[in-house]
This record gives sequence, C-alpha cells and structure tokens, in this order.
Amino acid sequence: MTNELQPDKIKDNLSTLLIGSEILVAKEVDSTNDWAKQELERGAAQGLVVLAESQTAGRGRHGRAWVSPPGQGLYLSVLLTPQVERDHLPLLTLMAGVAAARALRGFIKAPLGLKWPNDLLVGPRKVGGVLLEFCPGPRPGVVLGIGLNVNNPGFPDDIENIATSLRIENGAPADRLALLRALLGCLDEEYESFLLGGGEAIIGKWSELTSMFGQPVSVVQGPHLWEGTALRLDEGGRLVIRTGDGREQVFDSGEVTLSRAGREP
Ligand code: BTN
Repeated sequence: MTNELQPDKIKDNLSTLLIGSEILVAKEVDSTNDWAKQELERGAAQGLVVLAESQTAGRGRHGRAWVSPPGQGLYLSVLLTPQVERDHLPLLTLMAGVAAARALRGFIKAPLGLKWPNDLLVGPRKVGGVLLEFCPGPRPGVVLGIGLNVNNPGFPDDIENIATSLRIENGAPADRLALLRALLGCLDEEYESFLLGGGEAIIGKWSELTSMFGQPVSVVQGPHLWEGTALRLDEGGRLVIRTGDGREQVFDSGEVTLSRAGREP
C-alpha cells in the first residue's frame, strides 16, 4: 500500500469534472487553507486542490488547532468560485460533509454521522472536519478545507477522548490515496448537484446522515448558551432547535454539543 501522495498518482483514474482540475502537493505547509487563498490571489482556477503531508498551523473552527502529523491524515483545501448568493455559501460546509461522509463509508465499518455544521463523527468521536473560509478580495472565492484522521495511531492527551481515526476504528491502516480519490469524486458530484439544484438536495442528504435530530443539544454562540432539542435544518442550512420554553431558535453559527450522556464527551 503506497502511503505517499503524488499529483500524478492521485490523478490516475480520477474522473472528476471540476474538482482536482489542478492538484498541488507539498510536504509541509502552515495551513492548506492559507495556501489555497494565495493561489486564488495568483489567479488559480476553480477546482484547484492543494494538499500537504503535514501542516504546522492547521486550524479548525473557532481558532482551534487541527492536529496534522506527517503522512497520517488527509489535509486538503479546494478552491471554489461559485456564482451563488453569499447567503448560500455556508451550504458548502454541509455539501463537503456529505461528500466526505460518502467517501469515508467505503473505508470504515462503524457508522458515521454528521454533526452540524462541520463535524464527521464515528460514534461520539471526531474523525474529520470542514473549514470553509470566504475570500472577498478582487477575485472572490471560497476555500473549502477538509481534514480527515486516517492513520493516526493516537492523539494528544487533550483531544484523545474526542478524536478518532480510521486506523483506530478499523484496527488496521487505511489507503490514504484511495480515500483521497474517493473524496475528490464525491466532492465533484455533490458540488455539481449543489450548483444545479441549490441547497435543497444537500440539506436532504445531510439530514439523512445525521443522528442529531430529536437529540438534546446545547449551542454556544459567543457568551450565550442555549439548550434544547435539535429539530431540523432550515432552507438555508441553519440549525433549528426547540428550547425548553417551546420556542424554535435558529442558528447560523455556534458550537453544538450533543448533551445525551455517552453521545459525546
Ligand atoms: C474543524 O473541524 O474545526 C475543521 C477542521 C478543518 C481542518 C482542515 S485540514 C486542511 C485545511 N487546512 C486547515 O488549516 N484546516 C483545514
């Protein structure tokens, strides 16, 4: 099983229409999202994928670090320039979650789940995440960063209870190259479906892949904390919960915790 990511090997048998129109691989970068932004400024075309074997400053949502040791995970960013209203752009996080969950399915027996807005979970633990960043500038675009824990044998103490990898779950290493190809293929399909059909299809697929609905959740948004039951996503991909007083509260951002004991540490 090869473990090295090389553009020509990735492109071999890759039948995507757009995603991966150009593929760049680096041994080490600070963050592939920053790299993709620089490529956008240089005039790179939509569909560019930049990948790194390791990141020195990989980041997740809310300014958290994304653990990116060499050769263990997949750390990539995709450059997109969709001609859609700004309000619809957050749907791309859901789109990437659906694509990643579909791709991962072929590589893990345990059930996968999505947690709003950007988490890929195996049981209560995180196996991957999506970081969508807008780039206003003279050439506006979107950078879709995806991190997957593939062959990590373990994690630092502070996240060892909340993170997992395919290797930990399967008890055997996974083929990063095959997973990457599957991911690019699923991203290609889901992005095309998003462009053609808007958010409705993505929200439907996302909703089928989550087990959040009907579960007690807490949502932290800045200094505020809400508790309630996760109900659904609205047409903009926002999370709707019912709070204790029976009202519906809609979130376009926030940190969600599944509160039921045992579902999430
Ligand atoms: C999250 O779960 O909070 C999002 C994690 C996103 C991590 C990926 S790894 C590739 C890309 N580059 C980054 O710096 N972050 C994303």
